[in-house]
Amino acid sequence: MKDSFKAVQVTEDVWWVGAIDWNIRDFHGYTTKRGSTYNAYLILADKVTLIDTVKAGFRMEMMARIASVIDPEKIDYIVSNHSEMDHSGSLPEVIRTVKPEKVFASAIGAKTLKEHFTIDQEITPVKDGESLSLGNRTLTFMETRMLHWPDSMFSYLNEEQLLFSQDAFGMHYASSERFADECNPAILDYEAATYYANIILPYSPLVLKLIDKVTATGLSFKIIAPDHGPIWRKEIGGIIEKYAKWAAQKPEAKAVVVFATMWHSTEKMARAMGEGLAAGGLHVKMMPLEVVHRSDVVYELLNAGALAVGSPTLNNHMLPQMADVLTYIKGLKPKNLVGAAFGSYGWSGEAVKEIEDVLAEMKVEKAGEGIRVKNVPDDAVLKNCYELGKTMAEMLRGKL
Ligand code: FEO
Repeated sequence: MKDSFKAVQVTEDVWWVGAIDWNIRDFHGYTTKRGSTYNAYLILADKVTLIDTVKAGFRMEMMARIASVIDPEKIDYIVSNHSEMDHSGSLPEVIRTVKPEKVFASAIGAKTLKEHFTIDQEITPVKDGESLSLGNRTLTFMETRMLHWPDSMFSYLNEEQLLFSQDAFGMHYASSERFADECNPAILDYEAATYYANIILPYSPLVLKLIDKVTATGLSFKIIAPDHGPIWRKEIGGIIEKYAKWAAQKPEAKAVVVFATMWHSTEKMARAMGEGLAAGGLHVKMMPLEVVHRSDVVYELLNAGALAVGSPTLNNHMLPQMADVLTYIKGLKPKNLVGAAFGSYGWSGEAVKEIEDVLAEMKVEKAGEGIRVKNVPDDAVLKNCYELGKTMAEMLRGKL
């Protein structure tokens, strides 16, 4: 089996030696419908250098791909751009096997790796802007703190104008193709946006700063090689522009109605709210939690400007599936939303107030008082829901 894993050439001196995870469907709460890849790269410079490694269970696949182009023991340097275990899980064993001359990481990365693993070898910290000679090639390091861990950094291969961007510009997409220009662009658009919404979104202000910082360096990029998904080698400005757009979080004329229901009363309210939002001129995405996952909700929210949230009351609280989704959304810090809450109840009815409290914490601008109804909504209640939807749409359209 190991002889069937081959490296894929990226440039004259750079090879993809990562692993493809066709199976993974849950990435700590983010549903990865199309699996993922853990990308590692080998630079065949005078100093043979491995950029990142792979998740622990995929080490043999990576080693086999390396061995298809060079004896792994010839690796001189290993650079860890990101300490998260999907890229470092096999690092300790690789170090023991390969015995590299040096291992490099950012200053925080060097500490983080030692906190995660037993690694006897010294890890050499590198500074933002520092360059490392590989003999006939040069790597320059760029700290990207909190994108998306404190240790994260980029490595730039000067002569090839190739950016090893760790998680940034990546996506969870297992495919037999290694380059973005070989893939279906609609799938890439969807998976890149889903990845941004589920992982990078809370750090959007830092993304904007980083784009400015990198622009100021005057560096140009021919290739962006992320740690997940395909490699960008054509029209790479496209993915950078998308990051700038997503990071700006400028709302569009779109509403997300996310709701849970027990006996369809809250669902009826959601439908009426959705009709009102559409009548107000918005594209509306209805998201019943019976059939959608939290990752899908944040994907839809990425370019939305309105968020309506509905839940009945169960045992004095919102339904647990709504608490799950709201906790997830709140952590991802979406901005520039108008919103409202709604829901039915049997006897106590705390859910709407609970939802409103979360929306207030998220700084969602309130489009109107939340609507509660005892048992089943009548026509008057549904008209109120419709009107609240319309009001929300008008508020949003006034901001576009
Ligand atoms: Fe793909 Fe943050 O690890």
